[in-house]
Amino acid sequence: MVLDSLSPAAAALRTLPLAGRPPRREPIVPALGRRPRVHLWHIGCQMNDADRERLAEEIAEIGFVPEAPLDEADLAILITCAVRQNAEQKVYGKFKELVPWKHRRPGRAIALTGCMGVEHGSALLERLPELDYVFDVRESEGFIAKLQALYAGELDGPVPLPASDRLSAYVPIIGGCNEMCTYCIVPFVRGREQSRPVGEVVEAVHGLVERGVREVTLLGQNVNSYRDPGSGGRLPQLMAAVDAVPGLWRQRFLTSHPRNASPQLFEAIRDLPTACEQLHLPVQAGDDSLLRRMRRLYTVADYRHIIERAIATVPSLALSTDIIVGFCGETDAEFAGTEALMQSVGFDVVHLQAYSPRPGTAAARRPDDVPLAVKKRRLNRLLALQRDISLRRNRRLIGGDVEVLVEGIGGDGRPFGRTRQNKVTCLPRGRVRPGELVRVTVGDASAWQLEGEPCGAAAEP
Ligand code: SAH
Ligand code: SF4
Ligand code: F3S
Repeated sequence: MVLDSLSPAAAALRTLPLAGRPPRREPIVPALGRRPRVHLWHIGCQMNDADRERLAEEIAEIGFVPEAPLDEADLAILITCAVRQNAEQKVYGKFKELVPWKHRRPGRAIALTGCMGVEHGSALLERLPELDYVFDVRESEGFIAKLQALYAGELDGPVPLPASDRLSAYVPIIGGCNEMCTYCIVPFVRGREQSRPVGEVVEAVHGLVERGVREVTLLGQNVNSYRDPGSGGRLPQLMAAVDAVPGLWRQRFLTSHPRNASPQLFEAIRDLPTACEQLHLPVQAGDDSLLRRMRRLYTVADYRHIIERAIATVPSLALSTDIIVGFCGETDAEFAGTEALMQSVGFDVVHLQAYSPRPGTAAARRPDDVPLAVKKRRLNRLLALQRDISLRRNRRLIGGDVEVLVEGIGGDGRPFGRTRQNKVTCLPRGRVRPGELVRVTVGDASAWQLEGEPCGAAAEP
């Protein structure tokens, strides 16, 4: 961690003692005569999806009903994101909706956790008078114990979680991030990297497979930094251990920093039967000066080289990336570099975002000098470019076979699922059921999805 690159404001953010901090006020807790019910809401990245699932389990463990519809709930928990200003605005919007809900029945309470909780801490309780609790989702025990004490009368042993019909699940393998990209608030709100032991991850995957999960995504802000605390094993070794779990069909991983994307990782994708041919490798920008200002620690040439090596090892690899437009001082020429990179790499999917200054980050000290209208124009230009590229890449698959894990039935009554390359594929009505792994011929393709035609044989898991 490069502590001296933190602004004083950011350094203060890191040390907020959130866990165990008393709420400003206690909600009135009427006797319910039944188990208390909790409504969960989340926004943000897959880490928040995973945190929501873990919280739901902890809530069920103390005898509360998790995942209740809002109308029936006694407590609402917001799991928040701080990565961009618009994420925070959505949270404030959701909070506003909850205020009349809270007033409709005495005893209702609102809790906030996730990355905004760490970013703003107790200031949120001052700013939002209807908010009852702020807690750190990474240390939820204190909050859970508090709930248990408040509702002690109504609790009646753990709530058995309904059998899950989920086929895919996220498995956190590393928390936090030690990179210090100048625009990014994640290291401040998620802390330093901390890897889970291989044994614990494998056990979690076993448990999920027993509950019917067939595909796992190994999760972290920077999974390439994964290091088993015991053996020092890296991500490829962890993937090999996960691959050996009987009954698992597929594994993926998210997100990788280009800096540590190693040849061994690409070999693991090639060699492990469960490893899907998919790589999400955020590039952020296609210009060396921009990358330096973002503190990404690689050049455009380095990035191209990594991609070439990855494709040479796994020719069918699907590539996705994240790009920020309108970063501080981004010139037309720098933007053109990003456009050229997108054109030459030809990603399958690109997540595009306009730069949003985040308080406490190094970049927040620079002027946010690309006008909003220019950011929007650049964003729209890249969105249009990527639509064409995605369409071209998907159309190349027409006539070929793909393996689809059928996930569900869409609103139009047609089954759908994802290919190993993570492409959503719609299937003909009535032929297959969720949970099946099928091989289909690609009949048609749009920029967003494939149309599968049956070719008979079920795929071998
Ligand atoms: N750990 C991942 C993702 C981090 S956040 C990575 O290293 O890529 C997800 C994405 O949000 C980032 O990839 C980046 O494209 C975007 N992002 C992060 N901070 C941002 C900011 N201040 N403004 C706009 N986009 C941002
Ligand atoms: Fe943020 Fe990702 Fe950079 Fe970490 S590696 S600071 S999470 S953009
Ligand atoms: Fe947002 Fe926190 Fe994820 S800031 S992107 S929810 S790590």
